[in-house]
Formats: sequence, structure tokens, C-alpha cells
Amino acid sequence: MSKGDTDPVAPVTRKGFLISIKTGEPTEIRERDVHGRCRAVTEFEKLNRIGEGTYGIVYRARDTRTNEIVALKKVRMDQEKDGLPVSGLREITILKKCKHENIVNLRDVVVGKSLESIFLVMEYCEQDLASLLDNMAQPFSESEVKCIVLQVLQGLKYMHSRYIIHRDLKVSNLLMTDKGCVKIADFGLARLFGLPSGPMTPQVVTLWYRSPELLLGSPTQTTAVDMWAVGCILGELLSHKPLLPGNTEIAQLELIIDLLGTPSEAIWPDYPKMPAIQNFTLKKQPYNNLKPKFQYLSAAGLRLLNFLFMYDPKKRATPEECLHSTYFKEPPLPCDPKLMPTFPQHRNMQHNSTKSAPSGAHHSGPVPELPAISDLLGSLLKKRRVD
Ligand SMILES: Nc1ncnc2c1ncn2[C@@H]1O[C@H](COP(=O)(O)OP(=O)(O)O)[C@@H](O)[C@H]1O
Ligand SMILES: [Mg+2]
Repeated sequence: MSKGDTDPVAPVTRKGFLISIKTGEPTEIRERDVHGRCRAVTEFEKLNRIGEGTYGIVYRARDTRTNEIVALKKVRMDQEKDGLPVSGLREITILKKCKHENIVNLRDVVVGKSLESIFLVMEYCEQDLASLLDNMAQPFSESEVKCIVLQVLQGLKYMHSRYIIHRDLKVSNLLMTDKGCVKIADFGLARLFGLPSGPMTPQVVTLWYRSPELLLGSPTQTTAVDMWAVGCILGELLSHKPLLPGNTEIAQLELIIDLLGTPSEAIWPDYPKMPAIQNFTLKKQPYNNLKPKFQYLSAAGLRLLNFLFMYDPKKRATPEECLHSTYFKEPPLPCDPKLMPTFPQHRNMQHNSTKSAPSGAHHSGPVPELPAISDLLGSLLKKRRVD
């Protein structure tokens, strides 16, 4: 048989050989085996770019086999010479383990023609909470806020019980379908934890949602880092603006202290052992200001926020404890997800070409080539979210 591109059993000389570990002998790769069992990305028609963050570009795309609309996330390979970057690999392995209605569903992993690009095919969600918050005409009602947060907690309960820490929860990583279903997304920083937990790099979780133990350089991280972020997200949804928008790590710590008071060994026994405490003294502020900040929040709501903002990660609320909170059982009751309003799809309206990048106050990442005047005004009016 001749060696043609169309011949499925002919070896692909262009790709060279695989070397057998056992014998050291080269084995030719056949054309039909190049993609393994992966589909090719060319089977998806890219419709528009909906997001670009730290680890990948995301497109809205149509599966030409089924006609379904999906999200296609390109795994960034920039710095990699050999194989997948660890963030992409983590995201794939962790998402494959997660099947829950409040976690974005990974349907498939597909490859580009050159095999140098890899894409995650995910269920498509019409909104992310960051662009929604930037664009919505009127803020979420308290019963809608409860509905969103409950769903995040259900997703986290599932993940944490499987020893998965997300480590980068924030509004731009929370997606919502037009059926009101909230999904946790972006597992690029997620990690499996086990016992004993080895040291992990403290530079995770976007500054605004970063817990005090991470800011103070704790080498070990627990699921409590995600719960701190839930507190920030709940506060942000209730007050319609980011709760702790610090520009630097020090500023972030000071904002936390302004809101919750200075931590002490009495409330957080491991506090004096935190590496960063050795380098500087934190400002003194004796009061917890959650109550004046959230004047209209019920006692149960304040208890929940305080529980999520426990300085000591060991004392911080778990998803299960939050789900039992009276806050979700008292009026205004959480609305049914099906009754959540539907919203215009801003990401698709603003960026109709595959070349455009996201803009708006909640997004970070590369700046689009020529932002619209409305986007510029928007970012002047609203504080920019930094990663
Ligand atoms: N499944 C999806 N459906 C719809 N939009 C998505 C989906 N996944 C990601 N996005 C959009 O792309 C953005 C970036 O994706 P994300 O997974 O958070 O990657 P990054 O690591 O680059 O932040 C999200 O904020 C969201 O707007
Ligand atoms: Mg993201």
C-alpha cells in the first residue's frame, strides 16, 4: 500500500516515530492513530470569542456533527516545549472527575490539526456572572442572590467531598445558563488535596477573593480558601460591587482588617506562625464592621458572612454548614433557578468576530485592539477587576 495522506493505515512520516520503551525500536504512527480517539477541532465551527483569561481562549462554537452550541477552550501552550502545561492537564483531569449540575460539564477533549493545540469542549453557558454584573440593568434581588449562592455551595460540597479545591473562585469563573443554573468553571488552578498535604504555592486565588492565610504566606491550603471566596462573592452580590478590591497584597490585607478587625492568636491560634507575620506588623483595628457595611442584612445573613470570614481556616464554614444556614430558610426565600430572569447575551453582542477579545470592568487579560467608547466609559465608571 502506498504512503498517502488519505491512507488510514499508512505511517505518518511527518510526525516521526514512537520509540518503544521496552525494545528501543522505533514504531511508525499510522495516520488513523494520530488523533487517538480524539475528535479534531475542525469539526467545530468557531462562532465568536467569549473569553480570554490567564490560561486559555474560549470560543462559542457549533459542533458540526450534532449542531449543538458548545464552549471551546483552547489550552495555552505558550511556554511549553514538550506536551501540555500543568494547568491544562489539571483542568482536564479534575473536570473529568466532576459530574454535577453546578460544575461545568466537560464533554470532550479535541485536538488541532498540528496536534500542538488542545481544546476542551464544554457545555455552553449563556452568561458569566462577571460580565452579567457589569451589564445588568438592575442588581440581583436578595432571593436571586440566595439562589446563586446555594448553587455554588452545592457545587463546592460535591468538589470538596472529592478532595478538590478550586483555588480561583470569583465571579468571572461562575457561569449561568439561561435556565438559571449556576456552574463553577475554570479549574486551571484546581488541585487535589490529600493527607498529608504537601506545601503548595501560596500565589493562588485572584487577590480580591484571596483568604488571609494565603495572603500571609501559609504553605498549606485547604478547602477553606474556597469558602473565603464564597464570602467575598456573597458580599459582592449583596452590595452590587466587589467587597474587597485590593490592588496589592498589603492593600488587600488592610481592606480585610478594615472590614473584620485585626486577627489575633486568640481567634486564630496558627496566626503567629504565618510566614508573612515575621516581616511586618498588621495595622490595629479592633472592630468587625460587617454589620454597618450590610445594614439591611438579617441576623442570619450576618452570621453566615461572619462564618465564611472566620480568620482561622479551621473554623471557617464548610459548604454543608452554609447549606444549613437559616439565611436560606428565611424570607426572602431563594428563588427557584427556573424563575431566574434571563439576560441579553452581552458577550456575543459585543464581540461578533472570532478576533475580538473581552472587555468590560470585570475582565482582565489582554486589552482588545480597539475598545468601543461604551466599553471605555464602562471601565472608567466601574473599578477594574484584576487577576
Ligand atoms: N462553558 C462555558 N460557557 C460559556 N462561557 C464560558 C465557558 N467557559 C468559559 N467561558 C467564558 O470564558 C471566560 C474565560 O474562561 P475560563 O475557563 O475562566 O478561563 P481562564 O483560565 O482563561 O480565566 C469565562 O470567564 C467565561 O466568560
Ligand atoms: Mg477564569
